[in-house]
Amino acid sequence: MLDEMKRYVGFTPSDEENLRSLQPHVRPLVSAVVDRFYDELFRHQATREVFSGGHEQVARLRATLKEWLGELFDGVYDESYLRKRFRIGVMHVRVQLPQRFMFLGMELVRQELTQHLRKKDLPRIEELLESVHRILTLDLAIMLESYKESYSDQIRRLERSSMEDRLTRAERLAEIGQLAASLAHEIKNPLAGISGAIQVIGEHMSAGNPHRPIVGEILRQINRLDATVKDLLLYARPRPPKLVNVSLGGIVERVLTLLKEEPAMNGRRVEYARPKTEVQVLGDDGQLEQVLLNLMLNAADASPPGRAIHVAIEADTRWSRLTVVDQGKGMSPEILAKANEPFFTTKAKGTGLGLPICQRIVQSHGGMLHLESAAGRGTKVTLELPAGEE
Ligand code: HEM
Repeated sequence: MLDEMKRYVGFTPSDEENLRSLQPHVRPLVSAVVDRFYDELFRHQATREVFSGGHEQVARLRATLKEWLGELFDGVYDESYLRKRFRIGVMHVRVQLPQRFMFLGMELVRQELTQHLRKKDLPRIEELLESVHRILTLDLAIMLESYKESYSDQIRRLERSSMEDRLTRAERLAEIGQLAASLAHEIKNPLAGISGAIQVIGEHMSAGNPHRPIVGEILRQINRLDATVKDLLLYARPRPPKLVNVSLGGIVERVLTLLKEEPAMNGRRVEYARPKTEVQVLGDDGQLEQVLLNLMLNAADASPPGRAIHVAIEADTRWSRLTVVDQGKGMSPEILAKANEPFFTTKAKGTGLGLPICQRIVQSHGGMLHLESAAGRGTKVTLELPAGEE
């Protein structure tokens, strides 16, 4: 890397020679340059703030800057020089010195050295100053390189920790899934028993019995519990899909027919843009119907009556896409971020498992379910599935 940088700025052995020859002239200037450097840094708030260690730190820095200046004129610019300069850069990244101050600081050093050296009436001064300019540029390049490395290190660390977060989350969810499945099994059978017993009691009540409505309410609540338990089992123990060529349009038509009878759709229009040609996907008819039904009911739930829900299909050679777009209440970025989490719901009667079940089904089809939403504007759900086989 060092050789390449030297070639770039045309740094040759004659520059090394020039810099070495300047050493005795620079030595008496070092204090003045260092003073000017720190005076300037302390004049500006943005640079002043970088020094958190008080006078002691500044005293240490004056000494290290003097040493740095001295080494500039040693005439040896090898790999160990590179490593030393690189470490100085790392130190600046650590104190979070913005990169622009590296440029500005170096320019200060250049101005000071140029100004003082010009006064000395040295022969070939322009050529000597060119060499100074080149070594300062090399130093700057090396120090900035360490910024790049440290930033990518930081990014790698961040990525690793967010990956670990995701893994522990996935493990936690898997555990919850297992627990939910066994709990659901435990609940299912007694629930069926209670439901049967209540029905028997109800049948033995006379038509005028004032407790009849209570029995009806108990049965309704049992049905709700039963639906939750079924959802829980579906989520925790998904059935692998039987993948065959199915018509995506056919699925839409069947779901729309089913929804005609659905009270939850009450007043919501569905506008379906039928594809001009048949769109086939590789999928499990029943499971995909379940996904679309869920998406449509979500869209209806979010939409005010009278607002249309738009359903469309499109396809290319590899993927088929089905979109459900509503103009309902939409979701804030915070809610959207949690929408796929099991048991998260904003609905009074929701189980918080509808979308997670859909996600699982779609993933087991090798597809993707993607949500875009804006609060007050509506939601667009895109279901992407591998295209069917010829
Ligand atoms: C041409 C520009 C600069 C050079 C050549 C330079 C040189 C150095 C050197 C040699 C060190 C010591 C590194 C070590 O201990 O390993 C250092 C550290 C440091 N520099 Fe610079 N510096 C420059 C610009 C700046 C600027 C512009 C600021 C502040 C605005 C700054 C603030 C610091 C701080 C806070 C430290 C850490 C000091 C400590 O607590 O040890 N430097 N710099």
